[in-house]
Amino acid sequence: KDYPKTFPDNFLWGGATAANQVEGAWNIDGKGVTTAEVVQKTTDRKHMSMGDVTTDSIKAAVADTTDTLYPKRRGVDFYHHYQEDIKLFAEMGFKVYRFSMAWARIFPKGDEAEPNEAGLAFYDRVLAELKKYDIQPLVTLSHYEMPINLTLKQNGWASRDTIAAFNHFTETVFKRYQGQVPYWLTFNEINTGTWGFHETGAVDTNLSQHDQLQIRYQALHHQFVASAIATKQLHKIDPKAKIGSMLARMQTYPGSPNPVDVQAAQLEDDKNLFFTDVQARGEYPEYMNRYFADNGIEIQMGADDQAILAKYPVDFISFSYYMTTVTKADAGEQVNGNMATGGRNPYLEESEWGWQIDPVGLRITLNEMWDRYRKPLFVVENGLGAVDKLTADGHVHDDYRIDYLRKHITQMKEAIADGVQLMGYTMWGPIDLISFSTSEMSKRYGFIYVDQDDAGEGSLKRIKKDSFAWYQKVITSNGEDL
Ligand code: BG6
Repeated sequence: KDYPKTFPDNFLWGGATAANQVEGAWNIDGKGVTTAEVVQKTTDRKHMSMGDVTTDSIKAAVADTTDTLYPKRRGVDFYHHYQEDIKLFAEMGFKVYRFSMAWARIFPKGDEAEPNEAGLAFYDRVLAELKKYDIQPLVTLSHYEMPINLTLKQNGWASRDTIAAFNHFTETVFKRYQGQVPYWLTFNEINTGTWGFHETGAVDTNLSQHDQLQIRYQALHHQFVASAIATKQLHKIDPKAKIGSMLARMQTYPGSPNPVDVQAAQLEDDKNLFFTDVQARGEYPEYMNRYFADNGIEIQMGADDQAILAKYPVDFISFSYYMTTVTKADAGEQVNGNMATGGRNPYLEESEWGWQIDPVGLRITLNEMWDRYRKPLFVVENGLGAVDKLTADGHVHDDYRIDYLRKHITQMKEAIADGVQLMGYTMWGPIDLISFSTSEMSKRYGFIYVDQDDAGEGSLKRIKKDSFAWYQKVITSNGEDL
């Protein structure tokens, strides 16, 4: 029997962004302040700043009406440049554009009865612009932000009440954009909720490690239920549309062939895949029962929660892929990339931010996930954050980015030949944007350079990098000409 040698004809090539990293316009047209906009930037490249909040720091941030300390408030002003930006995406041949809708643009406080029409109208305009170029929207419902009011009022997802508020938002957008959005994702990188605030909207900075884990896994349980309810809503409102889960996939390798290392790595990997296990298989896996018991964590469930999870699993599985890690039973030297901590792998190079680059790992993980779930997969983030130099003649020669992407795309092709069903690939940050973890502008991912520095100075002019023409060629040749 023959096997697929390359990308299928309907493969969805494109790029991915998030509202709070590109839109800007944080306080106009009725938008409410979000959790992403109260976290200060940092210059420490190996440190994640998005968990460093207290109720007092949030209140002070809300009272501060400038964007000086909070670059996510300005993004790259996609709010006013979306036509120009989408035109550039179309020029590269995008089949799909992944973006998120900011809950607080539509429900500024998160729990109003009526939506903010100006917020809905903005996404009407974005969707109309995409349609003009036949670019299919892939919309994330929650990408690392929620209305800050819900944090101050009920500690975000730690409260069960947030489920109803979120599902009022999801129902509103499913109805409004019915027939226009073929693909939806519920929570971006849901597993990073175990790191806290940016995903859960729950302040837990001064709690013990046990109490943090307790609050985070409880918040995540509420997100699982909300995700299943959103799936139910979408299937009713827009039966042709599909909805997926989204995991920050962190393949980990055993630090040695010593069985205790192999076992430790297996558990570490399970703890990463736990989230997709729940969302795709519709139930909590047994290994987590043991983990919860061993760590004194108790998940409070509503009477119907397990039935809802079982009845409404996701249609497809998406994940981001940036790095892999190494696990040893006796943890040695740690790599402090902002996405994960784990042992150093001597076979891999790392980015300036300490992320270990592993293209072959993408093939491994695609195969493992396909074997485990047998649901279509979608790589919805992958890319290289780097310091790009704009040359005097106005070019950015980012051959290192081309090299990174080429190697990863080659491995996706191998995985497809291995038999993996892969729906598409949206590289992260097709246009330079504000970094999630540090809020730097100078950590750039794009095919399109944006003239703005870390202080927010610059003309916001869009400039094509060398990788722009390269990706255009990749899409035109459907992944043949790399
Ligand atoms: C993922 C997020 O974690 O990685 C994105 O979903 C983020 O929001 C991306 O931007 C890259 O991370 P960073 O910190 O380099 O922006």
